[in-house]
Amino acid sequence: MTANVRSVVTGVGGCLPPGVVTNDDLAAFVDTNDAWIVERTGIHSRRRAAEDQATSDLAVEAARKALAQAGRSADDVDMILVATTTPDLTFPATAAIVQRKLGAPVGIAFDVQAVCSGFVYALAVADNFVVRGLARCALVIGAETMTRLMDWTDRGTCVLFGDGAGAVVLEPRAGEGTTADRGILGFALRADGAKQDLLYVDGGPSTTGTVGKLRMQGNQVFRHAVVNISEAVLAAAETAGVTMAQVDWFIPHQANQRILEGVAKRLGIDGTRVISTVAEHANTSAASIPLALATGIEDGRIRPGQLLLLEAMGGGLTWGAVVLRL
Ligand code: ACO
Repeated sequence: MTANVRSVVTGVGGCLPPGVVTNDDLAAFVDTNDAWIVERTGIHSRRRAAEDQATSDLAVEAARKALAQAGRSADDVDMILVATTTPDLTFPATAAIVQRKLGAPVGIAFDVQAVCSGFVYALAVADNFVVRGLARCALVIGAETMTRLMDWTDRGTCVLFGDGAGAVVLEPRAGEGTTADRGILGFALRADGAKQDLLYVDGGPSTTGTVGKLRMQGNQVFRHAVVNISEAVLAAAETAGVTMAQVDWFIPHQANQRILEGVAKRLGIDGTRVISTVAEHANTSAASIPLALATGIEDGRIRPGQLLLLEAMGGGLTWGAVVLRL
């Protein structure tokens, strides 16, 4: 391995379960309405996994598409990271289940738990394996069945989330050590456990022995989001050696259209450079960034060689950003 090896995204894939849930569908059983949800969040609908669809099933479909785009097969995969907060089981890791379902050979497989920031964290972890020569074909997947964590009587949370998965293949490629290189150019990761009470799930194996339901002080999370995310973005950009003006596409975690626009505005990124899927995907937690990336590539907006800025914030609180050239 040379000093300038980069982790390059060679394939991207997304998976949305077929079941569409509109705002009107929710208004049929919880005290809310389409106008409120659209005005406060930008969300029009979300997907909900079928009862027999597990997080790993969504992850496997996204992974297969990413591998096909990369021209790779499951046999090539030597590392699988699944960023998820909705694992199939308490253990084994969903990544190991994905490995089995894909038929990938013995290698590295583990989950990354950083809630909505999980994909950003997982990319950073995988980058370190790839650039050190410890993985040659890594699958980094964000996959969630967030609807399983909903309290369907809590209108402040149940309208916000959806299910889905997105995956990327990361492979080592020699670069020049400049910002023109393809691959991950920089990242910044943050966590502040003191703010746990703003966003958490009220169950777990070692406390309640239950899975629990998502609890959130939405307006408090909102207040922290714009300021904190912007700081991490600028730190990642500084590490990468790029400016906001050079960013071709801003691909934020899709929590809320207002947060997304607030961060873009603070960073001086105009709306024409923002990928937003929140209207139809809602907040799919760790899956939202790779799903948005897959959407932008599929519709032809995002092209190889472009500079991408990814960011997220979620439970923990955790947040972070990654700068990469596709
Ligand atoms: N329908 C109708 N009314 C509602 C609904 C709803 N679905 N939800 C809340 N309200 C009401 C509240 O009860 C409140 O009523 P009141 O004034 O009579 O008490 C009023 O609307 C205002 O509530 P707020 O919570 O202050 O509304 P806000 O404008 O902050 O919007 C929202 C709420 C959409 C949740 C917003 O705060 C938000 O998006 N927060 C961030 C969420 C987020 O990004 N989470 C992080 C990622 S998630 C993760 O990591 C797992």
